[in-house]
Amino acid sequence: MILEVKNLIKEYIQGDDLTRVLDDVNLSVTNGEFIIITGRSGSGKTTLLNIMAGLTFPSSGKVLFSGQDIFSLTDKELSAYRNSKIGFIPQVSSVLSNLTVLDNVRLPFFLMKRQGDPTGEAVKILGMLGIEKLMEKSPKRLSGGQLKRVAIARAMINKPDFILADEPTSDLDDQTAMEIIKVFTELAVNGTGIIMITHDLETLGHANKQYNLIGGHLT
Ligand SMILES: Nc1ncnc2c1ncn2[C@@H]1O[C@H](COP(=O)(O)OP(=O)(O)OP(=O)(O)O)[C@@H](O)[C@H]1O
Ligand SMILES: [Mg+2]
Repeated sequence: MILEVKNLIKEYIQGDDLTRVLDDVNLSVTNGEFIIITGRSGSGKTTLLNIMAGLTFPSSGKVLFSGQDIFSLTDKELSAYRNSKIGFIPQVSSVLSNLTVLDNVRLPFFLMKRQGDPTGEAVKILGMLGIEKLMEKSPKRLSGGQLKRVAIARAMINKPDFILADEPTSDLDDQTAMEIIKVFTELAVNGTGIIMITHDLETLGHANKQYNLIGGHLT
């Protein structure tokens, strides 16, 4: 499995100006690889990840999943890509406050027809992330770091080929952050591709490759 970004350009209209946030970005990640993307605030990291997740259209260029351009897929196929092939951890919380923690984590499992034991799997993942005791709680009663871990668990439930994580450790203390990195490292060893955006310099040593987004270019 391979996730590729080819000649990606993204421009936004800001006021009267057209700003080019991504300027010919190329990237290739295979499953089993753990890559980290750093860059100043506003450099376009979230924009890049959102495009790779099929959430934002590029101005030009392609995102290829196993050679297939995700923006040429039908809506239904793109939904299947987002639900099954990738796990997306957004920068801002997207945990649903009217569901319990357990139901939040199980939700992506039920969005498509599939076989398995979502409850057992969810409990296992919550345990790996150290929040199994919060299972029956409402997200309204959780801390920022606990909510982040619910979002991480939800991204893992369908055993995606790639995890796209936008600053997953930003609300966590050093020790909890390291535990998340350990979980990601283990997933990578078992064949998941990890693409992680971070400002957390201590995590860099754990990745196979590190990129910096600067001036619209990935170096
Ligand atoms: N929908 C949008 N419309 C217009 N401009 C946008 C839009 N989304 C992002 N931008 C602009 O694109 C640039 C990159 O934003 P982005 O969120 O990708 O940065 P980032 O590297 O993730 O920053 P941070 O580290 O603060 O999260 C910023 O200048 C931002 O204002
Ligand atoms: Mg961002």
